[in-house]
Amino acid sequence: MTTQAQAKPLDERIQKRIDAALYAGGLPSAQKTRNFLNGTWLGEPLHVVLKDVPIGAWTMAMFFDACDSIDGSRQFAFAADVSIGIGLLGAAGAAATGLVDWSDVDPPARRMGLLHGVLNVGATALFATSLALRRNRARKSGRILAALGYAVMTYSAHLGGKMVYKHRVGVDRTDGLALPENFTAVLSASELADDQPTRVMHREVPILLVRHRGRLCAMVETCSHFSGPLSEGRLVDGSIECPYHASRFSLEDGRVINGPAVHRQPCLETRIRDGKIEVRKPPLNPTHREEPRAA
Ligand code: FES
Repeated sequence: MTTQAQAKPLDERIQKRIDAALYAGGLPSAQKTRNFLNGTWLGEPLHVVLKDVPIGAWTMAMFFDACDSIDGSRQFAFAADVSIGIGLLGAAGAAATGLVDWSDVDPPARRMGLLHGVLNVGATALFATSLALRRNRARKSGRILAALGYAVMTYSAHLGGKMVYKHRVGVDRTDGLALPENFTAVLSASELADDQPTRVMHREVPILLVRHRGRLCAMVETCSHFSGPLSEGRLVDGSIECPYHASRFSLEDGRVINGPAVHRQPCLETRIRDGKIEVRKPPLNPTHREEPRAA
């Protein structure tokens, strides 16, 4: 008989197991490691930075291999071997960061991400075998395997690009939203209960309002990671936790406290006028701020 768990797609089952393993039963150090690998400290996905190491190094290895096959010089052979070694080190970092990122990727990019990862493991194995063959004086076979690995890596990089440009994985989902330039009323102050995350609309843009510990906070309501509805999240120690993948954003300034989100959640200025809550995008030049009037 087919159980409910077995009926789930393979990519989802693998992802859930990896996700559970990476959280290690909720250990604080596991969350810190995840934050580091996601790149919350960098403000960009760390994977995007590290993936350039194997791509660049292995491209150089192809170049040096071509020179070596034409010229037969030992320097070119040595340079190719070093490039492959550097690429292998970079691939280890790219694999670790990519795995952590993928554990929080939603469909339709999830399956593509799995294929991307499997292909990258294959390309890495081919380059590692190529290096071993070179050290065993089988340079010609090593060059063939490296070329094969490069072809696999190139196709995988194409999939990685598709994940970003087509499915917007790793892209700041709040970027480009039209926030009010001037103070705009969005809700009656009496309608906002304490500690109750509330969604209001400014034209097409959902805004989160929270009155917490006597302070009124406003930020973009859709999560910068995968557009999760923050108004359905929970308040934790002065932050809002996304209901989708548990990213946490400070209510004070929108900074990321826990990933997988890496992009700060845009905050808005607030004030109360004539019993209404008004919000606006913080001015770029603070010296031109509108003077607040007494409430
Ligand atoms: S949508 Fe993923 S953490 Fe919010």
